[in-house]
Amino acid sequence: MEKNVSKLLNAQINAEFYSAYLYLDFANYYESKGLEGFANWYELQAREEQDHAMLMYHFMHNNGEKVTLEQVDKPDKVFNSLMDPLTAGLEHEKYVTSLIHEIYAAAQGVNDFRTLQFLDWFVKEQGEEEKNASDLITKMELFGSDPKGLYMLDNELKSRVYSAPSLVL
Ligand code: FEO
Repeated sequence: MEKNVSKLLNAQINAEFYSAYLYLDFANYYESKGLEGFANWYELQAREEQDHAMLMYHFMHNNGEKVTLEQVDKPDKVFNSLMDPLTAGLEHEKYVTSLIHEIYAAAQGVNDFRTLQFLDWFVKEQGEEEKNASDLITKMELFGSDPKGLYMLDNELKSRVYSAPSLVL
C-alpha cells in the first residue's frame, strides 16, 4: 500500500474510535437528562463506530500494513440544550465524510483499486450517517418542544436495536 494511503487509513481508525467516544458522551448526556431512548440511540451509534474502526484495522492487517494505535481525544463538547448533541452529530458526520473522501482521493491518485473498493462501502455509509443525523434534527424540531412529542420520540429511539455493519472483508 502506498505510504500516504496507509497513513490516512491508520489515522481513520483513530477518528472512528473518537467518533465512538464522542457518541458515548452524547449518550452520557441524554442519560443524565432522563432520555433513555436518545441515550440508547447514541450508545448503539458508538458501537457502530467501533465496528467501523475494526473494519479498517482488519483491512490494514489483511493487506500486510502496520497499524499504530494512537491516543483517542477526550470528547469535550458542552451541551446547552437537548438539540445540541444532534446538531453536533450532523456536523461531525460531515467532517467524517470529508475524511473518508480524502482517503478515497489519495487511493484514486495511486490506482489503489483494492482500497477504493473497500472504501466504497464507507462512502455509501457516510451518506446514511448524515441522513440519520439530519432526520433526528428534523424530528426534534417537529416534536421536541412538546413534552408528549418528546416522550414519544424518546420511545421511538429506545426501540433501535444493534445491527453490525454489513461490510464483509
Ligand atoms: Fe464511522 Fe459515523 O461514521
